[in-house]
Amino acid sequence: MAVLKIAKLGNPVLRQVAKPVDLNDLTGSTVQTFIDDMIETMHHEGGVGLAAPQVNRSIQIVVLEYAENERYPDEVSIPLTVLVNPVLSDYSQEIKEGWESCLSLVDFRGLVPRSTTVTLNAYDREGNKIQKTVSDFEAVVLQHELDHLKGYVFLDRMKDLTQLSYQEEFEEFWLKKEDTASS
Ligand code: NI
Repeated sequence: MAVLKIAKLGNPVLRQVAKPVDLNDLTGSTVQTFIDDMIETMHHEGGVGLAAPQVNRSIQIVVLEYAENERYPDEVSIPLTVLVNPVLSDYSQEIKEGWESCLSLVDFRGLVPRSTTVTLNAYDREGNKIQKTVSDFEAVVLQHELDHLKGYVFLDRMKDLTQLSYQEEFEEFWLKKEDTASS
């Protein structure tokens, strides 16, 4: 396994629409090794999620994992999840704003409105179908990661860029007990 280089804002790969994965390729070692590398990279960087374009591959794969953490006692943990060709639908009308960050935007945090519930359709790394409705923190992480597959970053989803902050200033001026996510 290997830690992959993170593509940062300004790299055109982050603005491309990622291509679907041919499910037949999941039986090959190339894609499986890449998925293992994505997981290792997410762990190494301390992210809650990682999308393939963030490691310079414009294909529709996302990994996420969140272990319960005393810093965010209100968040429910997310088991290690690999999503191939994921699609979201049934976005709830109910919207909640939460602070997000992104490995591709390094030090920024911004307040982003997201639906509180979404339905996920995807495949796992073996090509089995996944369908489930997710809410709250996991729904936010999914919306953030799937945006990467469409060429969007969280800045594009902010309503008010005056709520964009560097991490240090975020901690000094903005941090309350708000939801945070690095992905
Ligand atoms: Ni991100």
